[in-house]
Amino acid sequence: MIRNLNTEQKKAIVKALETTIGILATWILFLVGFCVYYLYQINRTPDSGDIAAETMSSKIEPVKPKMNFWSPPAESTLDGDPEKDQILYGKDIIANTALYFGPKGKVAAHSTNGMNCQNCHLDAGTRIFGNNYSAVASTYPKYRARSGKSEDVYKRVNDCFERSLNGKALDTNSKEMQAISHYIQWLGKDVQKGKKPEGSGLKEITMLDRACDPVKGKAIYVEKCQLCHSKNGGGQVNPANGTFVYPPLWGPKSYNVGAGLYRISNFAKYVKYNMPLGSTHESAQLSDEEAWDIAAFVNSQEHPKKDLSQDWPKISEKPFDHPFGPFSDGFKEEQHKFGPFKPILEAKKKAEKEKQNQTKTPTV
Ligand code: HEC
Ligand code: HEC
Repeated sequence: MIRNLNTEQKKAIVKALETTIGILATWILFLVGFCVYYLYQINRTPDSGDIAAETMSSKIEPVKPKMNFWSPPAESTLDGDPEKDQILYGKDIIANTALYFGPKGKVAAHSTNGMNCQNCHLDAGTRIFGNNYSAVASTYPKYRARSGKSEDVYKRVNDCFERSLNGKALDTNSKEMQAISHYIQWLGKDVQKGKKPEGSGLKEITMLDRACDPVKGKAIYVEKCQLCHSKNGGGQVNPANGTFVYPPLWGPKSYNVGAGLYRISNFAKYVKYNMPLGSTHESAQLSDEEAWDIAAFVNSQEHPKKDLSQDWPKISEKPFDHPFGPFSDGFKEEQHKFGPFKPILEAKKKAEKEKQNQTKTPTV
């Protein structure tokens, strides 16, 4: 076709092509230039002098609400304190209880199940919502419905020795009990009397509308917990010194049926915000339902027995999820163990209201 064109026509086509290429090249140059400039801008890290960039980024970052969480006193503040050694000894017993009271314990071998206090009171009782001790100094001695008496820190610590560690109580005057209680008192020394600081103990979780389901719980256990806590729930032992690398969840070496974790609400709260290992209250990995269902599964496995006949002298003060009767309400043991808990809680509230009204009615 081109061969048939005359010279004039050929020249016109070449010119048109030249113009088009020129325009395209300008555009391409412009686009490349723009990209280079853009990439340079987004990769630039703001330095201290770059106020505009800083204000920009602080505008883009979502502002997290700042909770006023408790923090433990710094250990450096103990320098020169005459109680320093005792307090740090107490901390070491909380963290490495098995080395003192476990199977090869230096103080009293075989006087516990071999667990550490820290297995449940994470980071030596300082982790936010990791069952920390921040509210102990400020709230004890206090009345506890389980014993029906006022309890001091010694009694409360021994409760965990006898139940969570399924072991023997310590003598109040022993070096070890004194060290533990001094450590716990020191941790909470800056908390106002009677107050519970933000982040103390365990974080609340929502109630389910249904009963907790141990069958569903087992499936999640196999998937998310078994690797460390093992198939039979017995945890894993370090053969070198007989202490647990991963603590047991059930079986002969676990907490007994009188322990705090044997109540499934405590178990669910602990696990939801602390397990699988590495989870925190800010990075929970389990849904509320999963936490409740695993709690139901683990606490329906075998746990060491404990004589509970002296517990809860007033049965109306039993918590909604105490798994053993008799109960003052009409609900069965099964429902107190697995739920649904909302009807129990509503009945409890109603009974309390009636009691208040009765005491308010003037007697003639
Ligand atoms: C198997 C888990 C577990 C182990 C191990 C354990 N505890 Fe506990 N402990 C708990 C739970 C759960 C609670 C809260 C119970 C409740 O509120 O009903 C608790 C509560 C306490 C409290 C009261 C906290 C408060 O704010 O009222 C103290 C003090 C305590 N434990 C000390 C210890 C000491 C000391 C040890 C080691 C000898 C220990 N615990 C081992 C689970 C455990
Ligand atoms: C990567 C290993 C790992 C996984 C996975 C894991 N845990 Fe743990 N778990 C631990 C360790 C380690 C501790 C003790 C923490 C400490 O001493 O600081 C612990 C402590 C516990 C405790 C308190 C102590 C006890 O033995 O009674 C419970 C309850 C618990 N885990 C439940 C669970 C559940 C439920 C899951 C699954 C959702 C789970 N864990 C997954 C490693 C793990």
